[in-house]
Amino acid sequence: MNDLLPADTALWQFIEKSVSDLMKAYGYSEIRLPIVEQTALFSRAIGDVTDIVEKEMYTFPDRNGDSLSLRPEGTAGCVRAGIEHGLFHNQQQRLWYTGPMFRHERPQKGRYRQFYQVGVEAYGFEGPDIDAEQIQMTARLWKLLGLTGLQLEINSLGTADCRRLYRKLLVDYYESKRAMLDEDSLRRLERNPLRILDSKNPDMSAVNAGAPTLMEHLDSESRSHFDRLCSQLSACNIEFTVNQRLVRGLDYYSRTVFEWKTDQLGAQAAVCAGGRYDGLVEILGGRSTPAVGFAMGLERIFEIVRLQNTGPETTGPDAYLVLIGEKAERDGQLLAESIRDAGYSVLMNCGGGSLKAQMKRADRSKARLALLIGEDELETGMVTIKDLRSNAEQLSVSQDRISDYLGNGI
Ligand code: HAM
Repeated sequence: MNDLLPADTALWQFIEKSVSDLMKAYGYSEIRLPIVEQTALFSRAIGDVTDIVEKEMYTFPDRNGDSLSLRPEGTAGCVRAGIEHGLFHNQQQRLWYTGPMFRHERPQKGRYRQFYQVGVEAYGFEGPDIDAEQIQMTARLWKLLGLTGLQLEINSLGTADCRRLYRKLLVDYYESKRAMLDEDSLRRLERNPLRILDSKNPDMSAVNAGAPTLMEHLDSESRSHFDRLCSQLSACNIEFTVNQRLVRGLDYYSRTVFEWKTDQLGAQAAVCAGGRYDGLVEILGGRSTPAVGFAMGLERIFEIVRLQNTGPETTGPDAYLVLIGEKAERDGQLLAESIRDAGYSVLMNCGGGSLKAQMKRADRSKARLALLIGEDELETGMVTIKDLRSNAEQLSVSQDRISDYLGNGI
């Protein structure tokens, strides 16, 4: 779990602002959800035999003995809230959320136990147009952030029925290759054979390459949904590859799944991932409602923005107010307020100090201007202005003319 330090917050805020501008541009409304939910919500939604539910949740009994968990992701809570507040009843919804998620994974670069996600979910839309819209949104976000080199992979997982049939074929195939399976895959063979396809173990790649693919066994409606999605993406000039081994680590998906990947973060390649989950609302007790969404890991996006150096330059306040002597300190408060009234930012020296010490602090604050008030200035009603980013001669101006220089420098 990380502390996000002040030196990094400007970049975080740049990403967060880009995200909220994006949501506005596409007409998605923000929903704010609790961080803690009933454990059963996650096991029913994400699946009992997924890594997340089996090994990664922070689960604890509360004082009533109920089992609660810190949310490992946002989709389950979003569906719960939608059912509870009747948001899906004869309505379409486009929602987004942001906040910390928790997974007890082995930490490494790009993988943390508390991490921030932005999630997007849409309810009540059946066709592939909304899948394409959400992928388009992500592509626009990379553009807003100035990022390049992210690659989109898509796949279809079909309906629950065709997945059941496919699962049988897959189990038969892996049973026939039992001797080639690693320990993880043997365990998955019993419980969640589709996840074997997702194995990161290079020794598994040969046996996985020969496995039957779900794409060959899709039902005709899922096939047509997928084909229409592909043609909509092509029409929007969004490049993608079809990865038939893309299966995702959460059980609720059906039909479309997608991931944006980077090669800049080592093993943690997925920056953004999601897909359709048409069965989940019903599983959690609501009326059958088509749904599609995705989430992105903000630490990973932060890291790529930093590596590609596309963030804004960090800037300090418009001015630093240097105050020499007790009377200047008292008058300084009023001057600082009048500068803020005019819409500028000012850091007022607090705690005294020599002229030299205060000028050092002014420099460190990255302020554009230093405004000096000492005994001379108090007598004449003037302020000395020094531009900290140019070699221009310092000026002496009357207090009511300071705003001519704030924002412009000398
Ligand atoms: P997910 O693939 O588990 O999907 O997570 C989405 C993204 O969160 C990942 O692509 C990654 O960027 C980030 N992420 C996941 N785990 C970590 C971690 N330990 N540290 C840092 N970043 C991480 C979901 O969570 C689904 N709820 C997405 C979704 C929404 N599907 C439909 N709607």
